[in-house]
Amino acid sequence: MPEIIERVLYSAADIARRVAELGSRISQDYREGAGRDPYRRPLLVVGLLKGALPFMADLTRAMDIPLEYDFMAVSSYQGRTSPGEVRILKDLDSPVGARDLLIVEDIVDTGHTLDHILRRLRVRDPASLRVCTLLDKPARREVEVPVHYVGFTLRGKEFVVGYGLDYAELYRNLPYIGIVKPEYQET
Ligand code: IMP
Repeated sequence: MPEIIERVLYSAADIARRVAELGSRISQDYREGAGRDPYRRPLLVVGLLKGALPFMADLTRAMDIPLEYDFMAVSSYQGRTSPGEVRILKDLDSPVGARDLLIVEDIVDTGHTLDHILRRLRVRDPASLRVCTLLDKPARREVEVPVHYVGFTLRGKEFVVGYGLDYAELYRNLPYIGIVKPEYQET
């Protein structure tokens, strides 16, 4: 285990189990919602780069409804600029109008990133807009954001890495989610 990690919070098996549950629940919801409308376009699953990559790959393979992939990349201004400011680095390739969108995120922390993205997407008039996050850290929330599907809810404010989540861009490839030792956490 890398030196910065205190302990494993969710093992690869824990994650696989939960992702399978989420995948079948989401598929069921959209199957019911879509009804039998043959003109309805497939669900557009929007992954937020880079952290959602492993989660989106596994989640969508646990889903058995027609769907398409798209991606957005955003960066939060850090340090001297005002906190909560979000910059779009890559926008969607697909037009959104009248489509069902499912945003896939690694973790919702303060909520600023998601809030910004949802505002940008709502004005493009999607048929529906839902959010699925692997992790939710409500103890750190600064803006209220609607989250429809949550993998795991963290109790405290701990910083975690692995399965897409990074610490200075490292550890995204760990197959598990681990808690970073307090001495390596910034706050
Ligand atoms: P928010 O805008 O504060 O909700 O931040 C969301 C983003 O912050 C996530 O997409 C992550 O990239 C990053 N983040 C927040 N908490 C953690 C964590 O515990 N580990 C790794 N990245 C985190």
